Amino acid sequence: MTAKTPEQTKTIMTDLVLPSETNPLNNLFGGELLARMDRCASIAARRHSRRIVVTASVNHVAFNRSVPLGSVVTVEAKVSRAFKTSMEVFLDVWIEDRESGLRTKANEAIYTFVAVDETGRPVEIPEITPETDLEKERYAAALRRKQLSLVLAGKMKPKDATELKALFE
Ligand SMILES: CC(C)(COP(=O)(O)OP(=O)(O)OC[C@H]1O[C@@H](n2cnc3c(N)ncnc32)[C@H](O)[C@@H]1OP(=O)(O)O)[C@@H](O)C(=O)NCCC(=O)NCCS
Repeated sequence: MTAKTPEQTKTIMTDLVLPSETNPLNNLFGGELLARMDRCASIAARRHSRRIVVTASVNHVAFNRSVPLGSVVTVEAKVSRAFKTSMEVFLDVWIEDRESGLRTKANEAIYTFVAVDETGRPVEIPEITPETDLEKERYAAALRRKQLSLVLAGKMKPKDATELKALFE
């Protein structure tokens, strides 16, 4: 399998915030943004693996800024690291100012997807080679995040999470 780059997986989804998608403060409902990010990330994961992909976990979400009704929201997803059958996907969310057209970072999130066959069994995926400084930074930290996610899910013993433990030493 030929290695790919994060850029080859890049997926951008731009859409409006409609009244049915907002909370009583007229801001985008958190679950709606999670769903948009899940869809966008799954396309990036598919572009990397060219397989059926399923969401294994949502590792991190930061709702730093509310997203008002009528906003133009852009969700950008890239695979930040590929492991054996799983991929970390990093998401950046931007809001576009109506008048100036300037984009402001609103939120970010990190999801994990697993490539599976038609029976739902995990299958191997190509490696990924980061190119930019940001891609290299995200790639390097992804192993720690995978270990944290597995520990929290009860799928890894804390004593085996060596890269994660090294953060605190
Ligand atoms: C995700 C799923 C395929 C993993 O199956 P599994 O039996 O745990 O398989 P494995 O233990 O072999 O794990 C497969 C990979 O997922 C990773 N993984 C599993 N759970 C994880 C978690 N909580 N966080 C991060 N990675 C996880 C494993 O580390 C492994 O990665 P690697 O092969 O790259 O090293 C399975 O749990 C599943 O199908 N879940 C439902 C998915 C779904 O329906 N999502 C939508 C929810 S509505």
